Amino acid sequence: MSFTKADSQLIVLFGASGDLTSRKLIPALIRLFDSDLISQNTRILGVGRSPFSNEEFATKVLLENEHLSKDVRKISFDNYADRFLYFTLEKDYLDDYSALAKKVFETDKTFSLEGRYLFYCSTPPNLYESIAERLKSAGLLDEHKGSTSFRRLVVEKPFGYSLGTAKAINEGLHRYFKEEQIFRIDHYLGKETVQNLLVTRFSNSIFEPLWNSKFIERVEITNAEADGVALRGGYYDHTGALRDMFQNHLLQLVSLVVMEPPQSESSEDIRNEKVKALEALRPLLTGEDIERNTLRGQYTASRINGSLVEGYREEQGVAEQSLTETYAAVRFFVDNERWKGTPFYVRTAKRMPTTVTELVIYFKRPEQQIFQYSAGHSKKNILVIRIQPNEGILLKFGVKQPGQGFKAQQVNMDFYYDSFTDRKVLQAYERLLLDALNGDATLYARAEEVEKAWEFVDPIIAHWNSQNMPMHGYPAGTWGPKMSNEFIEGPGYWRNPGEHLTDDENYCVISS
Ligand code: BG6
Repeated sequence: MSFTKADSQLIVLFGASGDLTSRKLIPALIRLFDSDLISQNTRILGVGRSPFSNEEFATKVLLENEHLSKDVRKISFDNYADRFLYFTLEKDYLDDYSALAKKVFETDKTFSLEGRYLFYCSTPPNLYESIAERLKSAGLLDEHKGSTSFRRLVVEKPFGYSLGTAKAINEGLHRYFKEEQIFRIDHYLGKETVQNLLVTRFSNSIFEPLWNSKFIERVEITNAEADGVALRGGYYDHTGALRDMFQNHLLQLVSLVVMEPPQSESSEDIRNEKVKALEALRPLLTGEDIERNTLRGQYTASRINGSLVEGYREEQGVAEQSLTETYAAVRFFVDNERWKGTPFYVRTAKRMPTTVTELVIYFKRPEQQIFQYSAGHSKKNILVIRIQPNEGILLKFGVKQPGQGFKAQQVNMDFYYDSFTDRKVLQAYERLLLDALNGDATLYARAEEVEKAWEFVDPIIAHWNSQNMPMHGYPAGTWGPKMSNEFIEGPGYWRNPGEHLTDDENYCVISS
């Protein structure tokens, strides 16, 4: 296995009794312990307002954690309960942290952790700076000089609500932490298939020379979810699809498609190129630009598989007259030599016919068209990189149809990730957590990346909020607003992917 085992350390987890801890962090930690990728002396110190003893905390996050399978709960509790400690904040996160510091130093001494601390903020972002400030005042940020001690900080999304708020959070954190100590999670970067984009691009001489506007007609990214907002209506109604998915996960994907080759695989070289890629996106600034190049929608009630599905405005926590988008599509260009003239189409939505994320590269047709294609077959080469599910890569190309003459037809060449049966593939949070424990920030977003992404998104949101833009309804379980295909300029339409990588366009499993 090619993973580096992380040194023993103390993980101080703020927001320890929250949903994210049980849903993502604990399962990831358990898998890392099971695979012996974290040193056995590592301790997790939960910090929160709910009063728990160490044992009660371990019971909550292990034995009673509904995000772990029943068997795993009991085994994890038996094997790892002693690794979990808890500290109750007297009033709230704005308390003085001297008592917390005492507990941290005692734990450090007992388990010989030598000042290696990872602070993990699974709290609302408006608390990040206050937590950092209190850690500093309590002496928890003073590293021992010349030793192997470190202080690292992991923060969750949403990283700001706009460019202004993101900048304020960055400035606030930079008062107490150096940029290289800060790890901003974007869980899409933890997905193996997203990382594979770099390898597919830069290690294949059949792709890299063609990766530009001379050969690529358009680039499309689809992120579709069959689910609605479920119990997150309260959060989502103040967020919307553009902030929830596009500003972070999807623009991260865009930066990996657009970027120039990094000088090396080092974290800084890769992230430098990603920042430059985001800088090169041509901003949509005027109302006219935004109206022509964006589309927004909201799902309405409908029947899926015979069952009535509520519309967005009927969901719990959503305002009756809400104008929050659950569908967002954006078309833009990239202002550099490589991408001159190639349009990028990116869409994200809830309550689509299926759950899928994929990137589609449409290659231009050869200038000289000698052979006829059979009816219904596209004449373009298409490369599909499937992020999830049924992870893999599909290349569509033309071959001669058997028989007389030279009629062409399109066929598929496909590769699936699950064919790597002998390799352990870490899940997104598992991978990201392991990297943070090892101090590797390659798969984390740097301050400028987050700010550049907001710079692109802010004017769109501002114009949408001025209510000059129509909000289109689309029935839950469909591929979005009626005119979504017209949004693609020129001939062509969205590839509406199915559950399986090789499903043909518009063929999919309608389920929720
Ligand atoms: C989260 C969004 O960041 O990503 C959710 O807040 C979304 O609304 C989720 O459902 C999608 O993640 P994944 O890994 O399931 O595609």
